[in-house]
Amino acid sequence: MHKPAKILTIVGARPQFVKASVVSRELRQFPELSEVIVHTGQHFSAAMSDIFFDELDIPQPHYNLGIDSLSHGAMTGRMLEEIEQVIEAERPELVVVYGDTNSTLAGALAAAKLHVPVAHVEAGLRSFDMRMPEEINRILTDRVSDLLFSPTKTAVSNLEQEGFANFPAKIIETGDVMFDAVLFHRERANLSAETAARLPAELNGCVLATIHRAENTDDLARLTSILSSLEEIHKTVPVLLLLHPRTQKIIDENGIKPNVWLAEPVGYLEMLYLLERCSLVMTDSGGLQKEAFFMGKFCLTLRDRTEWTELVEAGVNHLVGTGRETILAGFEALSAKKFDSTISPYGDGRAAEKIVRAIAEYL
Ligand code: UD1
Repeated sequence: MHKPAKILTIVGARPQFVKASVVSRELRQFPELSEVIVHTGQHFSAAMSDIFFDELDIPQPHYNLGIDSLSHGAMTGRMLEEIEQVIEAERPELVVVYGDTNSTLAGALAAAKLHVPVAHVEAGLRSFDMRMPEEINRILTDRVSDLLFSPTKTAVSNLEQEGFANFPAKIIETGDVMFDAVLFHRERANLSAETAARLPAELNGCVLATIHRAENTDDLARLTSILSSLEEIHKTVPVLLLLHPRTQKIIDENGIKPNVWLAEPVGYLEMLYLLERCSLVMTDSGGLQKEAFFMGKFCLTLRDRTEWTELVEAGVNHLVGTGRETILAGFEALSAKKFDSTISPYGDGRAAEKIVRAIAEYL
């Protein structure tokens, strides 16, 4: 490709800012490619959005659609309508979407309907649980994408098994952009003075926990079971629970006050800092399962299924579900083990470079 081409990047939620940051940096190395960034507004607060743009050196979005806090249908529908207008105004050669959120699906669908090619970064991941909104978003996004950038061999084989080889889309195994991000930013891991003042002074060896996925937060029985397990663990090893706004809202509404260390969400460099110091991660996040692995920490995943199956097979990630017994048993089992893994399923840290090269060749 030698002629100039415009890439429209759609982001909206926290993990997408991390993923887009490494691809955006790589895009800037190609003078013939220009990037227009659209922020749907799905995540909007300083702690969930602004800090990532600042820390990760992402160019300010050209468009901020301000669409947040709606039901899934309303959110996706409004995004679809507004992204369509942006695409019509900008006339990009390609739209890039990331991951599995409502912003991903809306961006992919708007582009496909206007016959603009779509590149999906993180294609082919499957949890095989259609109750998860993310699984629906992944499958539909993959189906309308032209370039399927898969982070792992498992993701490629998922696509092949679903018949994607029969579609005109191109499947490319690139490695995981989140691995690129950790390698690039790890040395800058740091806690701001402001955050440090809000956290306990001695964080070494704590359990680092997050809960935000709808299947856990929107089911009070599951949520209280997870929280009571964390409280039990906190009696022996301190648990630092970072509260996503969704979780914060639900515990406030239900008058729940978990007896663990509670804190607001932190930035990316702060998360890396906490990952360096913690003894174990407990989470239902997709991204954090991998970040724990990149930073050499075990993860207890508070879900029944995960799309990052390689880590479970390697024994560094234990799927413990949400039952108190299984969570506590998982914690006991891991307490005695030393992290030791030689697997490297997520590429060589050059996923973004491979993605941008493939885009340039495609256009
Ligand atoms: C979304 C994604 C999920 C991803 C997660 C990453 C979907 C279906 N879900 O879930 O896959 O793992 O992002 O964090 O797209 N809120 C704030 N401030 C913010 C952002 C959200 O207060 O900056 C509140 C919203 O008002 C809402 C709640 O948090 O009440 C949930 O936000 P929403 O964007 O609906 O989904 P997430 O749970 O963040």
